[in-house]
Amino acid sequence: MSRPVTGQVSSGSGEGPTAVSTAPTSSSGSLLRQTLRGLPVFAGELPAFDPATVPDDPIALFVAWIGAAIEAGVAEPHAMTLATADAGGAPSARVVILKDVHDGGWEFATDARSRKAADVARNPLGAVTFYWQLQARQVRLRGSIVARGPRVSAADFLSRSPASRAAAFAVRPGEPLGSPAELEAALADALVMVERAPEQVLAEWTLQALVPLEIEFWQGDRRRAHTRVVYRRDAVGEPWRHELVWP
Ligand SMILES: Cc1cc2nc3c(=O)[nH]c(=O)nc-3n(C[C@H](O)[C@H](O)[C@H](O)COP(=O)(O)O)c2cc1C
Repeated sequence: MSRPVTGQVSSGSGEGPTAVSTAPTSSSGSLLRQTLRGLPVFAGELPAFDPATVPDDPIALFVAWIGAAIEAGVAEPHAMTLATADAGGAPSARVVILKDVHDGGWEFATDARSRKAADVARNPLGAVTFYWQLQARQVRLRGSIVARGPRVSAADFLSRSPASRAAAFAVRPGEPLGSPAELEAALADALVMVERAPEQVLAEWTLQALVPLEIEFWQGDRRRAHTRVVYRRDAVGEPWRHELVWP
């Protein structure tokens, strides 16, 4: 039998968090449903976005937007949701960290043993989404994911802190884990190993890049008069064109 789930959910009244039960109520559905429908979206002072003044190059606009997100104090503005699909088309999405926008690609690092890497090996098509809540801005990219070479992947690995390198050595992505204590022990052993051999590189560490054929810049608006500018190109190396589309 399922038990009601409780959590700390803002009451929206400015009086701090309130415990909310998701148990069904008789008339208007669960309290969670009511709470979710009462939460604000696109609140606060939102930046202006004039589609008439966008540059021809979407990378320039992306750099300006992520710079503005950093300036505005958006938490973890370099966190992006990466969607991939396996050979049969079944999708998966997860958050990864943007390392750079370089040579036309949005770069991230991952372990070649992970599901995302396995997906990409069979189906290189992928998508990335950024959401910067303070500004009600979203950037969406679609394209192909390419692996950067072993030399740049190794350089990325060695630029990480000893603790991050140890964590990368310790883990076995997606494999069943007996207990949290096993992970702690593996982390401690890997840290000792990294301190003894600081130049050692995890062979599975791979820098990958999503190289887009489509990039959308989306500016939310309280009145729902959202602005969407979509850049497209026919192939990598071809010129970009852009247009305003209906929200
Ligand atoms: C804020 C945040 C940052 C993350 N950064 C990365 C990253 O840069 N690379 C990575 O492989 N996983 C990162 N992860 C973990 C992934 O979301 C995911 O759990 C892991 O990569 C396994 O995904 P997969 O099984 O779909 O391949 C991050 C998670 C969060 C919440």
